[in-house]
Amino acid sequence: MMRFAGKNVLVTGAAVGIGRACAVRFAKEGANVLLMDMNEVKLAQVVQELSGCPGKVLPKVCDVSDEAAVKQAVADAEGKIGSIDILVNNAALWRHRAAFWEVPAEDWHTYLNINVLGCVFCAQAVLPHMLEKHWGRIINVASVAGVYGNANMTMYSATKGAVIAMTKALAKEVTAKGVLVNSVSPGSVSNSAEADMDYTSQSELSFMGRTGSDNENASLICFLASDEASYISGENIMIDGCRKKM
Ligand SMILES: NC(=O)c1ccc[n+]([C@@H]2O[C@H](COP(=O)([O-])OP(=O)(O)OC[C@H]3O[C@@H](n4cnc5c(N)ncnc54)[C@H](O)[C@@H]3O)[C@@H](O)[C@H]2O)c1
Repeated sequence: MMRFAGKNVLVTGAAVGIGRACAVRFAKEGANVLLMDMNEVKLAQVVQELSGCPGKVLPKVCDVSDEAAVKQAVADAEGKIGSIDILVNNAALWRHRAAFWEVPAEDWHTYLNINVLGCVFCAQAVLPHMLEKHWGRIINVASVAGVYGNANMTMYSATKGAVIAMTKALAKEVTAKGVLVNSVSPGSVSNSAEADMDYTSQSELSFMGRTGSDNENASLICFLASDEASYISGENIMIDGCRKKM
């Protein structure tokens, strides 16, 4: 399938995990991809992996919480491939676990800056051209934590709840103008350090008894980015193997 031929896609946090799986899928299906990440080494590996894909692959080492850097990166890419049609806001921090009362304000600021404002800055950078073209897709990667709340991950849960609410509010502003905005909320995902993007492991948290894979998440995200999802906007779609809501 070449669902994305001629489309320009920005994926953030594209060096590993779900972001990498999305980057691979979009590129193999014909898109030009702008891949943003802070991890230069892993990003270079993804670029290598994508050599031979039909479209252009533009890697950019960039912190999504740096508004000026995001704007510049998008403007530079537009000069090379044209304006961005599809944005996948995937970059985030999530591995920190601590009791609520032990988390200092500094950590809250870092999480809010990357997980929430990172999505805001990327969306603001690409939206003007999407609105001009009357076509665009924004997919924000949230989490079950933003819906149910995860103990010892209050900070993370709060940022993902914000992403889901932002998705719904923004959709109401831009859907009639041709830009469809949705979020996906993965449950537990097993990111493999190896090349295997179908990797899963046992998990007590889902009735399926396993985690989800990077590829399973990329399938949903790419579906939402495609023309097949033309009547879906303002939704948060759970992808969690039937989560035991804990
Ligand atoms: N893995 C899971 O179990 C899981 C579950 C639910 C939701 N999610 C969400 O899925 C998304 C991807 O998670 P993952 O586990 O696949 O990948 P990950 O967390 O292992 O990697 C995220 C990538 O984002 C990059 N990144 C982090 N901060 C950045 C910044 N400021 N600017 C640019 N890039 C930055 C990292 O370098 C990394 O390559 C995240 O939004 C995460 O919250 C993951």
